[in-house]
Amino acid sequence: MNERPIGVFDSGFGGLTAVRRLRDLMPSENIIYFGDTSRVPYGNRSRDTILKYARQDTRFLRSFDLKAIVIACGTVSSNCLPQLQAENDIPIIGVVEPAVRRAAALTRNKRVGVAATRATVASGAFQRALAALDGDVTVFSHPCPLFVPLVEEGRCRPEDPVIRLVAEEYLLPLREQGVDTLVLGCTHYPLLSDVIAQVMGRSVALVDSGAEAAAALQALLAEREALAEGSGGVRCYTSDRAADFQRLASLFLGEDSAIQAQQIDITRY
Ligand code: DGL
Repeated sequence: MNERPIGVFDSGFGGLTAVRRLRDLMPSENIIYFGDTSRVPYGNRSRDTILKYARQDTRFLRSFDLKAIVIACGTVSSNCLPQLQAENDIPIIGVVEPAVRRAAALTRNKRVGVAATRATVASGAFQRALAALDGDVTVFSHPCPLFVPLVEEGRCRPEDPVIRLVAEEYLLPLREQGVDTLVLGCTHYPLLSDVIAQVMGRSVALVDSGAEAAAALQALLAEREALAEGSGGVRCYTSDRAADFQRLASLFLGEDSAIQAQQIDITRY
């Protein structure tokens, strides 16, 4: 048993998709979430900038006495995981490995798509991880840079013509490759899963990378006998206006009670 909180971070709201799954799987855990809403998106930035931001996010979270961190951001996971793991003495879980394990188990025709940010696609992290797991799988990846700002604007409904048009442009090349499994390699994308499923067709299995990371953390904590047994809860921090965060976070987390968030200056970390 270990009552210390779990830290979770993302560039913005997307990581809340992982928090939602963590809450479903482990309601007794205390979660501290940081969304770097003043600097989102990370996915169009250089690797050096992403690493600098990720280190600050991690340092802020480590101002709490945590038992583990989930990097609920595909961009940071695919560009910075080894560095962050080497620099910290608590378990740090990214989204790439857990998502890839699920995709390899699901694919029947060995053709897997990855939809992600530019920086994630450029890193090649999903391809490498899938190749290491199953050399017969061919990976097709495609950057979807407009998805994150649209999600941050709350433009997620499948009947929204803007998101529909953007989704068709980004996803048709993956559909044409005949993939039977599509990894949502960015944690914002599960909020678009209805429109993505419509464009890809119902026969294509979608893999929610944040949810897979949450399940991987649960397995790790169970193995180490480090699960909490208290009443659990979520505390949120953001680097921009708390009111904006609270409004969208409650929606994304799907929790009845309003989410309280506190603004912090991330540049101090
Ligand atoms: N949720 C982040 C990810 O998974 C969003 C990326 C961004 O900030 O561009 O990659």
